[in-house]
Amino acid sequence: MPRPNQPERDRNRERSLHESRTMPEVCTAKPVKLTVGTTHKCNLTCPMCFKQYEPGHNMHYPSLGLARFERIAAACFPTAEEVVFTVSGEPLISESIEQELQISGRYGVDVCLTSNGTPLGVERLRRLVLENVSVLTLSLDGATAATFEKIRRGAKFDKVMHDIRLLTAEKRARGSRTRVVGHMTLMRANVHELPDWVRLMHDVGCDACTCEPVQAPATFHAMALESCPDLANRTFAAARAVAKQLGFPLSTPADLPVNAAEAASRHDGGAPPTFEELAERHAPEPPEPAPDAVVAEVLAADRSTIAHPRWQEVDENGPAQHAPIDCPYAWSRTWINYDGSVKPCCHPGFVHDLGNIDRDDFAAIWNGAPYRQLRRSLRSGHAPAPCRDCYLVGLYAGLGDVGRNR
Ligand SMILES: C[S@@+](CC[C@H](N)C(=O)[O-])C[C@H]1O[C@@H](n2cnc3c(N)ncnc32)[C@H](O)[C@@H]1O
Ligand code: SF4
Repeated sequence: MPRPNQPERDRNRERSLHESRTMPEVCTAKPVKLTVGTTHKCNLTCPMCFKQYEPGHNMHYPSLGLARFERIAAACFPTAEEVVFTVSGEPLISESIEQELQISGRYGVDVCLTSNGTPLGVERLRRLVLENVSVLTLSLDGATAATFEKIRRGAKFDKVMHDIRLLTAEKRARGSRTRVVGHMTLMRANVHELPDWVRLMHDVGCDACTCEPVQAPATFHAMALESCPDLANRTFAAARAVAKQLGFPLSTPADLPVNAAEAASRHDGGAPPTFEELAERHAPEPPEPAPDAVVAEVLAADRSTIAHPRWQEVDENGPAQHAPIDCPYAWSRTWINYDGSVKPCCHPGFVHDLGNIDRDDFAAIWNGAPYRQLRRSLRSGHAPAPCRDCYLVGLYAGLGDVGRNR
């Protein structure tokens, strides 16, 4: 069945492609893809996750809320191809997840979400996911209960796998088109389980599986694959062989350079902490402060970082410092956080906002002064620091329109 608004979506995508090539300051097309931070809460405390470096308890962070979600949906969903729900928390525990899925389904926008899988025991939620989500990525970081529960701290291996089996069985029974993808964040503590994990993902009924190396600060390199490149490369090869034998799609990272361990050992002088030490360091903090106080603290901290020097240092009157930057986001995608703030993308260097949907309509922000300045600066060789070393620009470069549509 064709989805609602398809001709309008097609026109918007064409205009967006044109504007990505011509790089105007003002866009007539609306974002083709957007990320919406539906909640910053999470019910787990995985030790490798960036959330462990934030103040407060994972369950006491704010959510976007239904009213903001509805405003974003009305402004963007009729023309967008795809919306990604929060990647800074657990999307399936948002207080308004059921309405968020139903609203997205009504607009016919493709929903992609990444979940830890723990809420899938709820039958009604599984049904809403299977009715409204295009790609469900499940983060499952071990093939055994011991490894899984050490990393996915707070989740129960047997329960999560049982619920995924229910989901994939229901998917087949309903003829649902939701693509279920198992995902493993690879680190020293779990990489050896990758071949068995591929078998497990196939066995629980996933459609495909992917894995990516953990991003770890230099002082925690004992956790990263660079600390065990030979083991990682051997395991990738074994996992690829298993996937081939099963006829099961698997995406693995490229092999690591074998001298990576040597490079990693140069990051600091002292002995690196082990994964277990890291997990202990980030143990949940008792006693928990009152939720309202934590929320107020987080929001206050966010606002204090808005005037960021790396943005202000841009001098548009000086000589160009680089060639035009063909950013895949500035002309066709956007990122709306759980507090309503709008940023161009997820680059951690972008700590300032381009606007907030609590103050302005999204359309006014999309072509407001900060967005126009960003597009102008990307085009004119005066881009802010985060854009100049952005890995996405390199990743998409040379892919042309295919890259812009990814
Ligand atoms: C931050 S989580 C949010 C969604 C959901 N709570 C989950 O766990 O899937 C999104 C993805 O980032 C991955 N992740 C967490 N910490 C990471 C790190 N340090 N490096 C790379 N990926 C990480 C998670 O495993 C998960 O696949
Ligand atoms: S479940 Fe996801 S968001 Fe929550 S702590 Fe783990 S990786 Fe981070």
